[in-house]
Amino acid sequence: MQMNNLLCEYEEGVAVVTVNRPKALNALNRETLEELLGCFAELATIRELVGVIITGAGDKAFVAGADIAAMQGLDALAGRAFGLLGQRVMRTIETFAKPVIAAVNGFALGGGCELAMACDIRIAAVNARFGQPEVNLGVIPGFGGTQRLPRLIGVGPALELLLTGDMIDADEAYRLGLVNRVVTPEQLLPHCREILANVAKKGPISIKLCKEAVRAGMELDIDSACRQEADLFGLCFASADQKEGMQAFLEKRAAMFGDH
Ligand code: HXC
Repeated sequence: MQMNNLLCEYEEGVAVVTVNRPKALNALNRETLEELLGCFAELATIRELVGVIITGAGDKAFVAGADIAAMQGLDALAGRAFGLLGQRVMRTIETFAKPVIAAVNGFALGGGCELAMACDIRIAAVNARFGQPEVNLGVIPGFGGTQRLPRLIGVGPALELLLTGDMIDADEAYRLGLVNRVVTPEQLLPHCREILANVAKKGPISIKLCKEAVRAGMELDIDSACRQEADLFGLCFASADQKEGMQAFLEKRAAMFGDH
């Protein structure tokens, strides 16, 4: 697939997707969003894929937001359509069958913070900055930020960030639970790869079902979510992974799982 705004490198089970518009601090325009959809559709066909890392080109920005120059002239209908396109990208990532990690290497603002929040795990470099500055521009977040931020860090802290538009540093993002860990810029990609190397040792079916149980369950009431968990738990017992995982434990050896 020919892509103008994304780099997608695949090696040994790990795909690194880099938003590559460094001159605009990797801002998301329509084409970049469409390329993200295409890229994830292709990655979905790789059977041995363990997981995906999303990052930004250069050392300054992860993604500094949706592209303000491209949005400036939109009317209400076009604005809504642009929001819906971005929301589709975030949902594609959130429901992707393999784990997706955001390697936040700089500014993650507006749509960039929303992109990071759609990922399963967020690792930040010490120089990362987060924020939802949309109110500075006379708009509100449009790629799911008003929904994912309060779900991730709670309504009070989320509203403070959303209503002030203030930027926070990586340590504050860690304190709020917006990121899982803060590392040096040099450690950022290696650390994300380490997480996926750890995932690669586990049962691929259980990884997929575990993500599904959390992601779909968070949208249900507790009783429905637990019923769904029971269904997915039951499904594990129809897999070779469960046979191998439990047998290996009882034989005191490492499990040998199949492809991810
Ligand atoms: C388009 C952007 C951009 C963006 C930066 N650039 N962010 N272009 N869209 N979101 C461009 C700048 O115009 C500039 O281009 C170049 O990148 C470098 O940026 P500078 O501002 O010169 O860098 P610096 O002074 O270091 O400031 C960095 C910054 C600032 C603090 C990140 O760029 C900034 O505030 N950016 C906007 C952040 C933002 O408001 N994001 C939310 C967007 S709304 P030139 O050509 O001058 O070199 C959003 C809504 C999502 O995301 C939902 C939509 C439905």
